[in-house]
Amino acid sequence: MKRVGLVGCGTIGSRIARKIRDENLAALDFVCDLDPARAHSADPRSQVLTDLSMIREHSVDLVVEAANAEVVRAIALDVLERSDFLPFTLTALQDDDFREAVRARCREAGTRLIVPHGGILGLDGVYDGRSVIRVVTFKTTKHPRNLGLAPDTAGVVYDGPTRGACVQLPRNVNVHAAFALMGVGFDRQRSIVVADPSSKEMRHEITVTGPGIEWRLSIASTPTGEVTGSYTPESAASTVARVLGGTYDIVMA
Ligand SMILES: NC(=O)c1ccc[n+]([C@@H]2O[C@H](COP(=O)([O-])OP(=O)(O)OC[C@H]3O[C@@H](n4cnc5c(N)ncnc54)[C@H](O)[C@@H]3O)[C@@H](O)[C@H]2O)c1
Repeated sequence: MKRVGLVGCGTIGSRIARKIRDENLAALDFVCDLDPARAHSADPRSQVLTDLSMIREHSVDLVVEAANAEVVRAIALDVLERSDFLPFTLTALQDDDFREAVRARCREAGTRLIVPHGGILGLDGVYDGRSVIRVVTFKTTKHPRNLGLAPDTAGVVYDGPTRGACVQLPRNVNVHAAFALMGVGFDRQRSIVVADPSSKEMRHEITVTGPGIEWRLSIASTPTGEVTGSYTPESAASTVARVLGGTYDIVMA
């Protein structure tokens, strides 16, 4: 049975821990959160860590992150020296030097950084079609509270390359980062973020074009956490299960 470590036990992380435990998918070796009570309630049987530096003392096959961009920056290279890494916070990877260091570490160590589709759909399509795709526009509309902005903020709060959106709104555009990372990159993908005080949902509208290609994806969910929509915890837990090889019959490529 594979050994897993989990960093961040909030909306997404706690759902992942429950799935691993309920379906006996792996041995959850440690759960790490700044709040030990939160980590303990995510999985009472795992060792609780509150300090990121303690992760390196644990030998696991996979580390799953559901915390924030600073955590990804702090642990990615160290984790990838010894195990695969599945981060749900992908905005940190907009930094070319950091991303290249991650790639080099994976090559040296024979490990992988695994990118989940998280709250959106179409990551498989953009990845497999990235050599022919020309233009990607990714528009997200949320209530300003779910963007960490004053409740009366209205209108476009960002319009430009995805790289800048990752810097300006690192907690809110992880799906943009995932799509750019697996698609046309952080400079060629355009991100638009709109604050709408009347919105009760989080909506992502993605258009992808290229020779003979035109996709329009519209994905909406209601907020469950401060930044996370209702689909993401379920999607995240199922992705972890898939990565752990939970299903052995008919599987998605
Ligand atoms: N990829 C996607 O589709 C997608 C979608 C939604 C959210 N996200 C991202 O996933 C991450 C988790 O989202 P969430 O809604 O579960 O957030 P959350 O705020 O509910 O949980 C984050 C947890 O991380 C913990 N944490 C913060 N700093 C830490 C540190 N230094 N060490 C250990 N623990 C730490 C917090 O205490 C908290 O329990 C966020 O970065 C969010 O932006 C990604």
